[in-house]
Amino acid sequence: MTTVVSIPGTERRGAGSRPGRRVQSIAGLAAVALIAAACGTGTGSPAASATTTSASPSATGASPSAEPSLAAWEPTGPITIVVPFAAGGPTDTVTRLVAEPMSATLGQQIIVTNVAGAGGTLAAGQVAEAQADGYTVLMHHIGMSTAPSLYPDLPYDPLTSFKTIGLVTEVPMTIVGGTEFAPNTLQELVDHLKANAATVNYANAGIGAASHLCGLLIEQAVGADVTEVEYDGTGPAMDDLLGNQVHFMCDQTTNTTTQIKAGSIKAYAITSPERSDALPDVPTTTEAGLPDVQVRVWHGLYVPAETPDDVVATLTQALQGALTDENVIAKFAELGTTPVSADQATSEAHTAKLQEQIDVWKPLLAGAGS
Ligand code: MLT
Repeated sequence: MTTVVSIPGTERRGAGSRPGRRVQSIAGLAAVALIAAACGTGTGSPAASATTTSASPSATGASPSAEPSLAAWEPTGPITIVVPFAAGGPTDTVTRLVAEPMSATLGQQIIVTNVAGAGGTLAAGQVAEAQADGYTVLMHHIGMSTAPSLYPDLPYDPLTSFKTIGLVTEVPMTIVGGTEFAPNTLQELVDHLKANAATVNYANAGIGAASHLCGLLIEQAVGADVTEVEYDGTGPAMDDLLGNQVHFMCDQTTNTTTQIKAGSIKAYAITSPERSDALPDVPTTTEAGLPDVQVRVWHGLYVPAETPDDVVATLTQALQGALTDENVIAKFAELGTTPVSADQATSEAHTAKLQEQIDVWKPLLAGAGS
């Protein structure tokens, strides 16, 4: 059983044990208004934190050859992609990168908005209830498959409340520490946790987040019960790691690569079987002594279950075009990841992955929930 506490300096970002809940609710309310506006069901204007992409192909730099022909549905207004974690984090980064060429293909603005809270389940619940017209899309990650095991009262069913659009990318995680945290290697971290667990804290984005999942695996592998500090996303958590207000965390390379390369945080290991080309000096967890800590954070796009098939097909085609966009491929590579292949950016492959991952995590997460 882990403990969640608030530590000085986290409250300002809505972090800590419970002050964060209030900020999450406010963010959620703003997003509800925004979703309603995007669906034509409300009068609110987009929240200030939401950003839009241009619909002009020339402005995006998208390669015309990368744009597939559109299926029957032709959107006539802006599309909202809801990110279930805070702005500035890895899910947000991946979403904004693919939204730009998708916008060019679809000929409409894409508004990216952040609805943080409850480890990503708040946003998923809202999108499950949104108008099923293609104008409200959810980007979610591995958390879609772990949530049923972690939340007994989940207000949606990942397999029946949505239609899948396609997979986007699979991102390895890195175990990273603040520059003032004593351990310099993974083995030193393990020894430190065994000796000082009660005084060590790690940051995560709440139960259901990938950072939470990875922390659980570390605790299990080490046999230590470490104190959690919960944030709206690992974007704000990274800010506090950089400021040494938390000791360590486990986060996707899409959020850690730049900071590791700059020497602003310590990298202990990468949670994949192979080293990353983007971080060739960072050992794998297997090399460094924690072979059981293996996580790859897969991402996919979803729409509400009643969304018509032609709408799904159009969004899938736009996603497939985005994943062959040169800028997306280059930016993903810089951040230690790659787009999935075209056969994985399909509804069928995405649904199969979701089902398989629900089955994988269910026995492993028994008793770990809220
Ligand atoms: C984020 O975007 O903040 C992260 O994906 C949260 C997480 O799952 O750790």
